[in-house]
Amino acid sequence: MRDQMYGELDLGSLTIFSGSFINYGYWGDLAADRDITLAERTASQAELYRRVVSRLPTPPGVELLELGSGIGVGTALVAREFAAYVSGLDRSAAQLARAAEANADDLERLSGRLSFHEGSVTEIPFKDDSFDGVYSVEALQHVDDLAAVAREARRVLRPGGRFAAATFFAPDDTDTPVADLIETVASGVDVVRPVGAFAADLEAAGFKDVAAEPIGEHVWRQFDRWVAQTEYRDSWGRNWLRCYENGWIDYYVLTAA
Ligand SMILES: C[S@@+](CC[C@H](N)C(=O)[O-])C[C@H]1O[C@@H](n2cnc3c(N)ncnc32)[C@H](O)[C@@H]1O
Repeated sequence: MRDQMYGELDLGSLTIFSGSFINYGYWGDLAADRDITLAERTASQAELYRRVVSRLPTPPGVELLELGSGIGVGTALVAREFAAYVSGLDRSAAQLARAAEANADDLERLSGRLSFHEGSVTEIPFKDDSFDGVYSVEALQHVDDLAAVAREARRVLRPGGRFAAATFFAPDDTDTPVADLIETVASGVDVVRPVGAFAADLEAAGFKDVAAEPIGEHVWRQFDRWVAQTEYRDSWGRNWLRCYENGWIDYYVLTAA
């Protein structure tokens, strides 16, 4: 189902997303008296990238790896705005084909500072000590073995390198009805783990200064407002907000050194 979602289903083409990004977004203030614009929806998704990558030291020429780069417009944004060398990694050949097309200009113009690679975040196809920073935006909810992600990220980072990843987790390990409310959790496409379990995986892999910052106040209510404007207004997708408001999920940025 994960293959289908990023293959023929082309998740990024659904109206809940925009601009070839596929994330729930980091939202600023929105006017209450009018609809959210498409430009605001796209800007929220770009902003989530900035919020994640700003957790990494990014001197000019820094070498970064993105885990789960999707259609790659966020990867390109990072290469442009942070003057970085960025490699995007994704397991979906269909997403990589979309990334090649969507970012054709930047792939040419950034002269080698942007590249896309096929492979899994649990078996990263790069040598030890290849990067100064590893980051991920809304991809790790699809990975069954996050301990392997932690080990692989640690392996490809140089000494002094840093890690930052954003996605949704459960605040703790209490039983909740999330799987009854969210279809992609029921089907296993998304996994909602306790955030502390991934923090422990990072520590076990040798990371230090592991921290998990909840950013849900900048994500869920605004994303729900956007979904309510689309044809998905009566779908199970509205249950994300219910899960957040009940304390069953939150959106986090995890960082580690
Ligand atoms: C929700 S999309 C996010 C894309 C992008 N980060 C964004 O914010 O627009 C998740 C992406 O992660 C990729 N992905 C999922 N599991 C993966 C894995 N094990 N290894 C590499 N990529 C994976 C999917 O193919 C998909 O392109």
